[in-house]
Amino acid sequence: MTASAVEWKHRPSGKIAGERPPDWYEAGLAHVWLPYAQMRTARPPLPVARTHGCRIVLSDGRELIDGIASWWTACHGYNHPHIRAAVERQLAVMPHVMFGGLAHEPALTLARRLAALLPGDLSRVFFSESGSVAVEIAMKMAVQFWLNRGIAGRTRFVAFKGGYHGDTTGAMAVCDPGSGMHALFAGLLGEHFIVDLPRDGESAAALDRLLDRHAGEIAGLLVEPLVQGAGGMRFHDAAVLQVLRAAADRHDLLLIFDEIFTGFGRTGSLFACAAAGVVPDIITLSKALTGGTLPLAATVATTTVFEAFWSEDPARALMHGPTYMGNALACAAANASLDLFEQEPRLQQIADISVALAQGLAPCRDMPGVKDVRVLGAIGVVELERIASLDALRARFAELGVFIRPFGSTVYLTPAFTISPEELATLTSAVVQVVSEL
Ligand SMILES: Cc1ncc(COP(=O)(O)O)c(C=O)c1O
Repeated sequence: MTASAVEWKHRPSGKIAGERPPDWYEAGLAHVWLPYAQMRTARPPLPVARTHGCRIVLSDGRELIDGIASWWTACHGYNHPHIRAAVERQLAVMPHVMFGGLAHEPALTLARRLAALLPGDLSRVFFSESGSVAVEIAMKMAVQFWLNRGIAGRTRFVAFKGGYHGDTTGAMAVCDPGSGMHALFAGLLGEHFIVDLPRDGESAAALDRLLDRHAGEIAGLLVEPLVQGAGGMRFHDAAVLQVLRAAADRHDLLLIFDEIFTGFGRTGSLFACAAAGVVPDIITLSKALTGGTLPLAATVATTTVFEAFWSEDPARALMHGPTYMGNALACAAANASLDLFEQEPRLQQIADISVALAQGLAPCRDMPGVKDVRVLGAIGVVELERIASLDALRARFAELGVFIRPFGSTVYLTPAFTISPEELATLTSAVVQVVSEL
C-alpha cells in the first residue's frame, strides 16, 4: 500500500484536530521520510504554522507548550528577538562563504568566545554543521593525534553503555549497541569497547583491566558528561568523570566529552565539564549552540591536541572540511545566543526550573509503573517500567496542549530556560496526569 497523505490523515489516533490540514501538508506528506518512524504505522506529524516563546502553533490555531525545546536546542525559546536581529543583520551582509581559504568575523569571534568560556586550554575550535559530524571529527582528531606523534595502531575507542553520540557511521559505532542498532549495521562499524561507566569500585577496576590489556589499540575514551541523554536520560556523578580523567592519564589516552546535549546550561552550569571539575582533551558542542535557530557544531581541542597537528608536514594536517562549516548565519546566531547567556539570568532560570521540575514531577514517584523520577538542571525525567505505545502517549500529550515526546521507557522534560512558571506547571501537570492514566 502506498503511504499517501490522505491515508495518514484518516488514521484514527493521528487525527489532526479541528480544521482540514493545509494544502502543503496534504501535498507534501507522501513525499517526506520522517525520523525514527515506521512510516506505515506512525501517527502523522503535527502541522506547525509558527513558533513563539515556548509555544508551537499548529496550523489549526492550537498552541502547544513545548516541553522538549526542539531536541534540546531552543534554550532561549523560539524566535528570540536578539538572535533574530543578529541573523537578519548577517543575512544582509553575507549568508555564507566557504571556510577553506577564507575567514569571517562571526566565526572567528565565536571561536574566541568559546575558547574563553570553556575550561582549561580547550582553545582550538573546528566548526561543522551537526552533532554527529562533530563527534566524527573528534574521533578523527584523536586517531590522528597518535599517528602524528608516531604511534600507530590506536584506532579504537572506549565508550559507554547507555551512551548516544549520533547517527552517522563513526558516531553510531560508539553508541550503546542497543540504541545504536549495531547488529543491523555490523559490517559498517568499527570495533570499539562499549563498557559500563565506572560508577563503583568494581566497574572502575574492570575499566582499568581493559585499559591495561588494550591501551595500545585505543585512541581515547568518549563520554557524555553527567547525563547520557538520548540513551535514556541517565545521570552520573562528577566522580565518574574524575575516574575517567585519571584512567585516561594513567594509560596515556585522550578523554573526549560529548557535550552536545549537556552544553550551554542544560545540567545547571554552562558546561558539565566545568561543573564536574574535569577538563577533557576534546569537547563536542552543538544543539543549543545557536539557541536552536540554525545548524552548527564545534569540536574543540586543547593546545596539546592541536600541537600534534602543527607541523611543516602537510600529511599531519586534519583532512576534514564540511562545505557549510563555519556558516556565517549560524555563527551570528551562536554569538547572539552567547550574548543572551551573558545578559539574561539563564543559570538562575535553570536553577528555578530545577526546583519546579522536582516539585511538579514528585507526585509521579508513588504511581504504579514508575521506576524513577529524577531531575538535574533543566532536565526532568520520569522513567517507567515500560511504555506500551509511545505514539499513543505522544498523542495524549498533544490533546492536553503540550508537546512532549517520550522515548524508550522515559517521559522527560527539557524546556527552554525562558519558560514561565505557569507554562512549566502545565507541562509537569500533563506528565503527572498522563502517567497516572497508564
Ligand atoms: C550527546 C549527543 N551527541 C551527538 C548527537 C548527534 O547530534 P546530531 O543529531 O546533531 O547529529 C546527539 C543528538 O541527540 C547527542 O545528544
